Amino acid sequence: MYNILITGGAGFIGSHVVRLFVNKYPDYHIVNLDKLTYAGNLANLKDIEDKPNYTFVKADIADLDEMRRIIKEYDINGIIHLAAESHVDRSIKDPFTFARTNVMGTLALLQAAKEYWDSTQAPLPPKGGVRRLFYHISTDEVYGALELTNPEGVPAPFTTKASSKDDMAYGKEFFLETTKYNPHSPYSASKASSDHFVRAYHDTYGMPTIVTNCSNNYGPYQFPEKLIPLFINNIRNGKPLPVYGKGENVRDWLFVEDHARAIDLIFHEGKIADTYNIGGFNEWKNIDLIKVIIKTVDRLLGNPEGHSEKLITFVTDRLGHDMRYAIDSRKLQSELGWEPSLQFEEGIEKTVRWYLDNQEWMDNITSGDYERYYDDMYKNR
Ligand code: NAD
Ligand code: TYD
Repeated sequence: MYNILITGGAGFIGSHVVRLFVNKYPDYHIVNLDKLTYAGNLANLKDIEDKPNYTFVKADIADLDEMRRIIKEYDINGIIHLAAESHVDRSIKDPFTFARTNVMGTLALLQAAKEYWDSTQAPLPPKGGVRRLFYHISTDEVYGALELTNPEGVPAPFTTKASSKDDMAYGKEFFLETTKYNPHSPYSASKASSDHFVRAYHDTYGMPTIVTNCSNNYGPYQFPEKLIPLFINNIRNGKPLPVYGKGENVRDWLFVEDHARAIDLIFHEGKIADTYNIGGFNEWKNIDLIKVIIKTVDRLLGNPEGHSEKLITFVTDRLGHDMRYAIDSRKLQSELGWEPSLQFEEGIEKTVRWYLDNQEWMDNITSGDYERYYDDMYKNR
């Protein structure tokens, strides 16, 4: 039996990875370990919770003894580590929680896996190339911010299926696997630190590790503090859309199921000790993206075109707001043959439909503690 521990599986990306692995690999036992913070939601996994090859364990990755116990109890041979504090705005308010979970939590998980793997024989890889691996999921934000050298946008030099019809690039540079780390927010600093610990465990102890750095994800089950689900929900409820600064910052968007497919591919075929950047060459200026969301939601709700544009509200900029992220994912494409499956306009349509069709999921979140958090974040704006 191949026993895989997926941490953070009750969160946004983790739930897509758990679903993919549970359905695609009935011979693997998938153990989903999650603390169920405000961002963890078992409703994200309702469709697979009764599958025989799935187990949920509630635990905190920063608890070293618990990590030792769980890794031993389930005889874990592969780890996909997604558990993290993930929201930049929260990291600005409370950096210590980010250091605790993202840095100390990753370290505890690494140490527990090292101790267990040192004490047991590596299993022979069954057919299909399954092996011992600590696979750490990171972000492009560790590379820092790129300059907006082409504020109006120029035709993008590279494209994939995910690229939008408009296909723009807003600067000359892209993040490569070799780009020097230069994190700016407490979130990205904590992720950078955890990436360094993972690589140090390979270099020092020979732990089999892989790190991947992905661009912004979007799709179903994303917690509505992040731009896209927050704005879809606010449009539905006629609430203001708080655009930071002038809305000129650029993000590179990838559909979450394409990230999950990349994780599956890299988990099985990626080179040990290597790094892969994941992204779809799909850059959007925030304000342009927001207009696409407004247009799509209005159309699907039967509102006249432009109806919800009046909700756009420019607010004080995020502290240290990174200007542009843009991933160069050509290494992953050429070495492992990964390609996004979805064109951006299709992905946005699918995403908006999902949130409108799953209003109960959204209402269950926004009617509780989150609503209070949200009011607190924005009441002075
Ligand atoms: P998320 O906030 O939606 O989910 C995080 C999950 O981790 C939640 O289920 C939460 O309960 C769990 N968790 C938090 N602290 C924990 C702890 N101490 N112990 C155990 N579980 C804990 O995050 P996400 O957007 O799904 O991101 C997942 C991973 O992917 C993160 O490591 C993030 O840095 C990375 N990433 C995210 C994006 C993105 O656009 N969302 C892009 C690139 C990389
Ligand atoms: P976010 O979804 O928080 O992702 P990240 O900061 O990790 O890239 O934000 C995406 C972009 O949208 C970012 O430039 C900040 C901006 N933004 C707003 O303008 N208003 C908002 O309310 C939020 C949450 C984000």
